[in-house]
Amino acid sequence: MTDAYIIDAARTPRGIGKAGRGALAHLHSGRLLAKVLEAIRDRNDLNTDDVDDLVVGCSSQVGNQGSCVGRMAALDAGWSTKSSAVTLDRFCGSGITSVNLAAANIMSGMDDLCVAGGVEMMSYTSTLTNKTNNRTVDGGNLHLRNLHPQPHQGICADMIATLEGFSRQDLDALAVESQRRAQYAIDHGYFNKSVIPVYNDDGTLALDREEFPRPGTTMETLAALKTVFDQFMPAPIDDSGETFEQLVKRAYPDLKINHVHHAGNSSGVVDGAAALILSNKAYADRMGWKPRARIRAMATVGGDPTLMLNEPVPAANKVLARAGMTVNDIDLFEVNEAFAVVPMAFMHENADMDKVNVNGGAMALGHPIAATGSILIGTVLDELERRDLSTGLITMCTGGGMAPAIIIERV
Ligand SMILES: CC(C)(COP(=O)(O)OP(=O)(O)OC[C@H]1O[C@@H](n2cnc3c(N)ncnc32)[C@H](O)[C@@H]1OP(=O)(O)O)[C@@H](O)C(=O)NCCC(=O)NCCS
Repeated sequence: MTDAYIIDAARTPRGIGKAGRGALAHLHSGRLLAKVLEAIRDRNDLNTDDVDDLVVGCSSQVGNQGSCVGRMAALDAGWSTKSSAVTLDRFCGSGITSVNLAAANIMSGMDDLCVAGGVEMMSYTSTLTNKTNNRTVDGGNLHLRNLHPQPHQGICADMIATLEGFSRQDLDALAVESQRRAQYAIDHGYFNKSVIPVYNDDGTLALDREEFPRPGTTMETLAALKTVFDQFMPAPIDDSGETFEQLVKRAYPDLKINHVHHAGNSSGVVDGAAALILSNKAYADRMGWKPRARIRAMATVGGDPTLMLNEPVPAANKVLARAGMTVNDIDLFEVNEAFAVVPMAFMHENADMDKVNVNGGAMALGHPIAATGSILIGTVLDELERRDLSTGLITMCTGGGMAPAIIIERV
């Protein structure tokens, strides 16, 4: 099998995902991704004639994000029409899966050169959710709902915290630390290698730094925030009339949920896009590129769709086994902070806090659904280089109870 290497990683800063408020929210989703594709092409002299495939994650593939947004963005970026593209959806995990599938294409010998990434403009998709009133991942399929009740992911987060016995104080402390680490990383330029400034088409600057963080967040400021997902419980999910409370009771009739998640310890709603160049060694040599990392192993797991957010631990264990490694062989972890309970549960089982999300995570920086995985891979790579370390493991929970994972190793 041929090895797959990461040549470069680039991304937008994450903009607040609210129409009329976020600095990227006026852009078309395809245009935002195109700006990353332009930047990564230009800074690597990428010959887009040679790109065998562009693999893009996008989780809400409708409207501005429909019609194979990956292909449309490549054309919009002025890439060669000869390069092809595919757009995929594994919910929040799409941006790891896009990289994994591009790497697999190279490892199999099918492709020499791929670009992988993701895009999600939540400023746009949140307006669609309001319109369709579809608040469950089952898409209104009542037969499926009978088999696997899947509450809103924020409710799942509260359910896991209750079952695991994590308190609001534990989770808030993690959110405060995420904000502190993110601000330190921003102030010291740790994201500068990957982040590209986003310009409007008239040449004015739209955004050149992370827009979501709230520096100065403390336990006291978070204590003032009301929990959110208890408010979802009595509301009807959709036209079926069933409430989330009833849905939860189907699977956990006796569970009394301790609601602990709020706006400060949940992932931020943001806009963002990311892309990585991957190739085999022969192509990199031909281009005079020095690969930055090798893909050491990849894995995906499925688990309980009802609790939904619990699979990063099994995914990490599976990818470590595939690599013939243990947690002690990993220098840095990125475990997406979809909700505070997710990295909390991961650290409980697997890793020390000083190795996990060392530059903050989605509670401070935001989680642009299908772009996040690709962002996190670039974030780990930049940080491994900055600290002169070797190995990074990236994983994240997804809707439907799954988790993709990847281990990268500097070369
Ligand atoms: C929890 C959630 C519903 C909150 O949404 P929201 O109310 O729009 O959140 P906001 O970021 O606008 O914050 C609301 C208010 O909380 C307060 N707040 C948020 N974070 C804060 C912090 N760190 N410190 C202090 N106050 C904070 C502010 O008052 C803010 O209002 P403002 O922006 O006008 O100042 C939303 O963040 C969410 O759904 N997150 C999860 C997304 C998700 O499910 N992703 C997929 C994962 S599987």
